[in-house]
Order: sequence, then C-alpha cells, then structure tokens
Amino acid sequence: MKLKKLYIILPIITAVLIDASCRKERTASVPEAPYQPTAYLLQYPAFVDSQHVMVVDAPNNPLTVEGVALGKKLFYEKMLSNNMSMSCNSCHKQENAFSDPRRFSLGTDNASGNRNAMALVNLAWSKQFFWDGRRNSLEEQAHDPVTNPKEMENSWPIVVQRLQNSSTYPDLFYKAFGSRTIDSIQVTRALAQFERTLVSYNSRFDRFYYRNIFSAISKQELAGFEVFAGLGRCTNCHAGVTITDHSFRNNGLDAAPTDSGLAGITRNPADFGKFKVPTLRNIALTAPYMHDGRFKTLEEVIDFYSDNLHGSSPNIDSTFHYSPTGFHFTAQQKADLLAFLQTFTDSNFVSNPAFSEAK
Ligand code: HEC
Ligand code: HEC
Repeated sequence: MKLKKLYIILPIITAVLIDASCRKERTASVPEAPYQPTAYLLQYPAFVDSQHVMVVDAPNNPLTVEGVALGKKLFYEKMLSNNMSMSCNSCHKQENAFSDPRRFSLGTDNASGNRNAMALVNLAWSKQFFWDGRRNSLEEQAHDPVTNPKEMENSWPIVVQRLQNSSTYPDLFYKAFGSRTIDSIQVTRALAQFERTLVSYNSRFDRFYYRNIFSAISKQELAGFEVFAGLGRCTNCHAGVTITDHSFRNNGLDAAPTDSGLAGITRNPADFGKFKVPTLRNIALTAPYMHDGRFKTLEEVIDFYSDNLHGSSPNIDSTFHYSPTGFHFTAQQKADLLAFLQTFTDSNFVSNPAFSEAK
C-alpha cells in the first residue's frame, strides 16, 4: 500500500520539480530585449538649412525615439518636484508655446522668481539658455529647475530614487540609455532630447516668406512686415529663420536696469542690461513679454518700441542710436505691425499631440 502511494506521488513531485527548474531556466535564458535604440530624425523644413542656421551639435546625446519619448514623460512628471505638485509643464504650457502666461512663475511653495518663463521653441538651434545665457546646453539647463528653490525645490538623489522605485521608469531608461540604473545625467539628457523636438516652422509667415505662398498673409500683415523689416529695424535682432539672431542685447527697456542680465554671468560691465534676444515665433501666444513680463500685450510692446524707449540706457544697442526715444510709428503702422506679429503663430505646434502629455 505504502509503496503504491509512493509510486503515484513520486512522479507528481518529480514533474513539479522538473517543471519548476525548467521555468527558472526558461526565464533566465530568455535574453533581455537587446538595447537597440532607434535613431530619431529631427523633422524640419528644408528652407531652414538653406538659411545657414544649423542645428547645434549634441555629440554625447544623439536623439533616439526612446530617449525623446522618455524625455516627454519626464517633462510632464510631477515626481521631479519636492511635493509632487509640479512638472516642467507647470510653467511651460503647450498652448502658450511652452511659456507661462503668469508674469512670474510660482514654485512649489509659491515663491516667485523675477523673470518670465520663456517659450520653448526651436531650442535645437540655440546655444545659450536663460535670459542671461547662464547655461550652454539644454542638458545643463535641465539640471537647474529641479533644485531651484523658487521652482521645484527638490534634490537630485530624491528624484533619482523615486524614478528608480517606480514600476515603469527603469525599463524606459533601459530602452533609452541601456541601463536600468537611473542617474541625473540621463534624466537631463532625456529632457534635452524631448526639448530639441519642439520644432516650429509652420506659421503663415513661413508659408508666405519661405514657401512663396503670397496669399498666406493679408495686405495689412504685409504692410506690417514692411514696418518690421524697415522703419522698426526689428530684423536687426529678431532675424533669420529662427526670428532671433541668438545674440544678447539691450533694447532700452530702462534708463537704469535693475536686472544686470548677461553681466551677472560674464561680470563684464559692457554686458550690463543685455538679455537674450527672444524668438518672435508664436509671439501672440506667449504674453506677458520681456525678461520680467512687464508688458501684458503686444500693443504695449509696440508702444514701447515706438514711444517709450530709453536711449540713455547703458550699453543700449546701436540700432537705437539714431532713434533714442523710439521709432515713432503712426497709429496705422502700429496696427499693421500688430497684425503682422500674428503671422508667426504656428497653430500646429501648440496642438501637436507629439508634444502633449500622454493620456
Ligand atoms: C516654477 C516654474 C518653472 C518650472 C517648474 C520650470 N521652468 Fe523652465 N523656466 C522658468 C523661468 C522663469 C525661466 C527663465 C529664467 C531665467 O532666465 O532666469 C525658464 C527657462 C527655461 C529654459 C530656457 C529657454 C531659453 O530659450 O533659453 C528652458 C530650456 C527651460 N526653462 C526648461 C525647463 C525644463 C526642462 C523644466 C523641467 C525640468 C523646467 N524648465 C521647469 C520657469 C520654470
Ligand atoms: C537691438 C535689438 C532689438 C531690436 C532692434 C528689436 N528687439 Fe525686440 N527684443 C530684443 C531683446 C534683447 C528683447 C528681450 C529684452 C528683455 O527682456 O530685456 C526683445 C524682446 C521683444 C519682445 C518680447 C518677447 C518675449 O518673448 O517676451 C517682442 C514682442 C519684441 N522684442 C518685438 C520687437 C519688435 C516688434 C521690434 C521692432 C519694432 C523689435 N522687437 C526690435 C531685441 C531687439
């Protein structure tokens, strides 16, 4: 009897054991999906290169489909902030061309800085970042908001730990960078990759100027373009296909600037009061305006360049030497210029699901 029972039980036990060992072997022998990121080709129209404005090299951080996807997820990730209330998107909103409609952004504890959050547009073509140019790459830049006491108020070890502990991120980092061990360098690289894909060259102005579709803008807008490129000399600085020459200048906002701008970084008195020339792409969507968001509307900006300029401002740009109190536009010229500035809006950019939070 006893023996009989054993005959029956033994094969079952052996079968279970064999099965268990096989299963173990099977999982162990299934090779990990190999690290094979897919190159991401930055898409933009051919007319951009033909203007001799080149994408800035990022030799240690080539764009990949997986890296860009991870960067987008991180851009919308609230784990980056100390109390999980804030992501990059809290101050850089897609509908505002990734700028902040508030004059000064508020950090996690409602502290505010003294500069307006800039639009994130065509950054792949930019070499210096922030209004005072204090960062030289998007990777470097992305390091700052996380620890800024007026922004996300967090520390990198905490961010990395949270991401590491999550059920999704280690796999996504593996796919993007070939390692499940997350570090802050990879986080900033992924963010920078996503930011480089924020490309905007599909405005009515592009259709008119670069694609020769003359019906793309109205008569009044065309008249405004003449003010922009002529009397207003706006193209001395808001120039070329990126609508910025990427320089730092003083456009005469104040007789005595209170923010030293570029000089705060270079310590060179000749840079006092100079700020990054911002792109005017999507400008109708990015109010308020200037480094301190002092102007609520484009009408106010135009009134400033027309009538309220401070020619005595230290290091004021030579553009204004012959018009130290402004360009003195007529009411018609102001209206035309205002109409023209709307042609820089790229409605596809602000609605493109490739840039929106994954639902
Ligand atoms: C609390 C609001 C806030 C948050 C959160 C925030 N930013 Fe910003 N961002 C700003 C402000 C304000 C500036 C301009 C600051 C300055 O120039 O001193 C700025 C500037 C930038 C710039 C410079 C753009 C240029 O043209 O030079 C980039 C890029 C940027 N932010 C990316 C990010 C990323 C990536 C994150 C998330 C990791 C982020 N920001 C989170 C407010 C914020
Ligand atoms: C000498 C160079 C220069 C010229 C000429 C110039 N700008 Fe600017 N513009 C700047 C700089 C620099 C800033 C940022 C200044 C700051 O915030 O301190 C700026 C800011 C702006 C802004 C606000 C952008 C933002 O994102 O907040 C607008 C709009 C603008 N300019 C439109 C114009 C128009 C329209 C003209 C022609 C009438 C013009 N500019 C002429 C250099 C120039």
